[in-house]
Amino acid sequence: MQEKIIILDFGSQTTQLIGRRIRELDTYCEIVPYNKFPHNDPSVIGVILSGSPFSVYDENAFKIDLTTIRGKYPILGICYGAQFMAYMNGGKVEPAGTREYGRAHLAQFEGKNPLFRNVRKHSQVWMSHGDTITAIPDNFKAIASTDKVAIAAYQAKNEKLWGVQFHPEVYHTEDGTRILKNFVVDICGSKQDWSAASFIESTVAQLKEQLGNDKVVLGLSGGVDSSVAAVLLNRAIGKNLTCIFVDHGMLRKNEFKNVLHDYECLGLNVIGVDASKKFFSELSGVTEPERKRKVIGKGFIDVFDEEAHKLKDVKWLAQGTIYPDCIESLSITGTVIKSHHNVGGLPEKMNLKLCEPLRLLFKDEVRRVGHQLGMPEHLITRHPFPGPGLAVRILGDITPEKVRILQDADDIFIQGLRDWKVKDAQGNDTVLYHQVWQAGVILLPIQSVGVMGDERTYEQAVALRAVTSTDAMTADWAHLPYEFLAKVSNDIINKVKGVNRVTYDISSKPPSTIEWE
Ligand code: XMP
Repeated sequence: MQEKIIILDFGSQTTQLIGRRIRELDTYCEIVPYNKFPHNDPSVIGVILSGSPFSVYDENAFKIDLTTIRGKYPILGICYGAQFMAYMNGGKVEPAGTREYGRAHLAQFEGKNPLFRNVRKHSQVWMSHGDTITAIPDNFKAIASTDKVAIAAYQAKNEKLWGVQFHPEVYHTEDGTRILKNFVVDICGSKQDWSAASFIESTVAQLKEQLGNDKVVLGLSGGVDSSVAAVLLNRAIGKNLTCIFVDHGMLRKNEFKNVLHDYECLGLNVIGVDASKKFFSELSGVTEPERKRKVIGKGFIDVFDEEAHKLKDVKWLAQGTIYPDCIESLSITGTVIKSHHNVGGLPEKMNLKLCEPLRLLFKDEVRRVGHQLGMPEHLITRHPFPGPGLAVRILGDITPEKVRILQDADDIFIQGLRDWKVKDAQGNDTVLYHQVWQAGVILLPIQSVGVMGDERTYEQAVALRAVTSTDAMTADWAHLPYEFLAKVSNDIINKVKGVNRVTYDISSKPPSTIEWE
């Protein structure tokens, strides 16, 4: 049985980050809405209460009956989680005079406390709260303070229950990983046996049992998630898995051919369908971004459905859905939002059962599993790419000629990122491509005047877009070296017929988005 930590989500923006930190400690964890604790699950070894956008005394604040978990598991409350436990046990929580936000340093802490083992003196912590605990319950003791906050952390006396008002999951908390490790490993007793290898072993066994001799179909996109899901399923059920890779004509230059070749080398049973004509014809004259997405989504389902029906007796549809797609997030109103997006209603239409072998993994874990499965590096470290492809990077209507121009410009930019050597933060050799979350070129619906040789030109402008991010929810524009941008701009203007101007997008998300449409 896979032991696990439960993270009760009270709606904080950093809840997912807590999950990732715990997984980095090779410990399995699950994030569940605050009111959905799995009381009958014998594999739970500890509980973390997350932060929240609410104050504990807000009428709508998320509350639970602590007696149902207290004393049964070690508990760590973070920020709101800490304030909530103090408040519910007779402590006092009040608005902080000034919002306590940003860096602070531990002034004093109980070094012998198991939660603070090996934490350094004056260690930096990250605060982000509008309330503060001003008095703790009688049977609790303060175990840490900062210059401004007297009760930065507490423990219930003689009990495995802790609260910290700072955020150990955030990188700015220097000894945050240490503190989480103290809790998860020393206090909860995690065996740290959650690894890519153990995941593969147990998942392959589960898939064999779940699928038996059934036939499964899976849509490949060329992206890391669907590719890893396919290789994993291939390991479990071999030729009973058929993969379908649809070319909607809006992929990157030579991508369809290259990726299909990769898949074949991996031993996958894959059908490549060139449906680009159909998509070009259906997209003709469509300019509105959401309409483009709908046309492509529906076209994809049609092609996939048609191909799948040629196969006999298929019972399952497999997808590369990953954990962040599945986590039910809480909105400020308390409603649970399910942000799970599968391929536009395919399972319902096809009347197939859904198989999602990566649904418990974060993106970096999917990559580790891919490595462990022996997949080629370039397939695993690939940037994310939107399902509708270049269609949402051509502003205005789409024609094969515009796609050709964009493919050529994009190819120069991406290849340039792959070739440009740099050092990473640790001084190791790498290339710009790996320092960027995602990059691409946008074809703008404008022409501008230029001069080439003696000729006046009137051609298209493109924008380069490259961002850094950890999850695509927020992103900063990548501060690419000027020399690199100069080279790419030159290469594009000289080599791509139809483009005479290159710009660089320097907007962050929010308020902009990564894609332009
Ligand atoms: P935005 O533009 O919303 O993008 O900042 C966030 C991430 O999502 C990708 N993206 C899409 N992926 N279908 C997809 O499969 C889509 O319609 C779509 N739109 C955006 C985008 O590339 C980025 O990684």
